[in-house]
Amino acid sequence: MSVTVLVGAQWGDEGKGKIIDILAKDAAFIVRYQGGNNAGHTVVIGKDEFILHLIPSGILHKGKTCIIGNGVVVDPEALLKEIDLLRSKGIEVGSNLLISDQVHLIFPYHRKMDKLKEERKGKGKIGTTGRGIGPCYTDKAARCGIRVADLLDDEVFRRKLKEVLDEKNEVFQKIYDFEGFSFDEIYNAYVGYRERISKFVCNCSKVLDEAVRQKKPIIFEGAQGTLLDIDHGTYPYVTSSNATAGGATTGAGVGPTKIDKVIGVVKAYTTRVGEGPFPTEFGPEMMEKIRQKGKEFGATTGRPRRCGWFDAVLLKHSIRINGISEIALTKLDVLDESDVIKVCTAYKLDGKLCEDFPADIDALFRCEPVYEEHPGWQQDTGSFTNLWQLPPNARKYLKRLSKLIGTKIRIVSVGSDRKQHIFIKD
Ligand code: GDP
Ligand code: IMO
Ligand code: MG
Repeated sequence: MSVTVLVGAQWGDEGKGKIIDILAKDAAFIVRYQGGNNAGHTVVIGKDEFILHLIPSGILHKGKTCIIGNGVVVDPEALLKEIDLLRSKGIEVGSNLLISDQVHLIFPYHRKMDKLKEERKGKGKIGTTGRGIGPCYTDKAARCGIRVADLLDDEVFRRKLKEVLDEKNEVFQKIYDFEGFSFDEIYNAYVGYRERISKFVCNCSKVLDEAVRQKKPIIFEGAQGTLLDIDHGTYPYVTSSNATAGGATTGAGVGPTKIDKVIGVVKAYTTRVGEGPFPTEFGPEMMEKIRQKGKEFGATTGRPRRCGWFDAVLLKHSIRINGISEIALTKLDVLDESDVIKVCTAYKLDGKLCEDFPADIDALFRCEPVYEEHPGWQQDTGSFTNLWQLPPNARKYLKRLSKLIGTKIRIVSVGSDRKQHIFIKD
């Protein structure tokens, strides 16, 4: 293994945490490069379930260095809670965790603004996770964000916080009829966080440059998914960062020539949380069946996920945008009981066939899926560890998906547990 970027190829929750956990065994560094604690990456090891929000999923393996890259936005309160929770479950978090000094920090005013903006949008809301992600990235782009390096210098931190908070409070009062936040309360809380997080701080780009020189295997752990990417997703129903593979280079300070391969994690069907277009969304009956069987409830907010059939139009878009060279397909077992399995091969848009994922969000809302149907296999696949053990119809389904999207499937996941997966060789 060399330098690999792992991305979600749909709308998030594809099972990235589980696949990272499998691959992390052979890696030295696991690096988050975007997003924040809007992410929820689940790893199941026997009876234990771990949900990682900010810390790379590689933390569950001993002897790996986990890095939170500069492209991530960090809520220090959430980070410290996550560290404490992991430690309480016997997981070591110490010198194996590093945080870039360029990370932007999430403050209570970001969380509040996230909620107020959603309320104000009413029906047109995005359905955010409410973690302050959008407002924090807004401040980063507006050049009024506060970074870890600022927090470490008390004088700079005081000055920046004062400047930003004065403006935020004025906006809260004049537009949102909310009194705002006290400087002292935020300042004191963040000085407390500084004491606990300063030992993790690093120059992420330099650490990774050294790792690349020493040929250490590195995995970049994408959060969210390609269709939630701020540039290539279903804008404006997206998150506020580049979840796609390109984000790894800017979000960790590693040049594109250093990246060897991109793995796309794909569910055997499709899900999304929050608002926005979803051409292959199920009707109520199938929705309920798959939601229950696949336990499709958000790992961060607990919201029920919207579920639908596999969408090859979306996947081809995703494969091109990310340069995906191989696929890890998850949750095949969730389709075990289905008698008929549909796959969307094209859209119908205003009466015409459309094979490209449209950029115009109104057009995407009008797209109707064109399906082909496959017979199910109606057999449990959860215990299989070899491709040839899978029922013939399951193998045919995999083969058809691979052909439709023009990319090899290298890993098939057949259950939530760490052990439930199949590697496919040539
Ligand atoms: P992530 O955000 O991409 O890491 O995905 P999440 O952890 O939010 O959601 C994936 C869910 O599916 C988690 O509950 C996983 O434990 C579970 N999961 C992952 N792979 C499989 C699989 O192959 N089969 C089943 N049944 N569950 C899986
Ligand atoms: P992981 O990494 C699924 C969705 C939210 C909302 C939109 C914007 O677990 O796959 P935000 O809070 O980011 O401003 O919300 O993005 N969203 C996710 N959906 N999985 C995630 O992360 C998500 N992170 C954000 O539901 O629609
Ligand atoms: Mg998730």
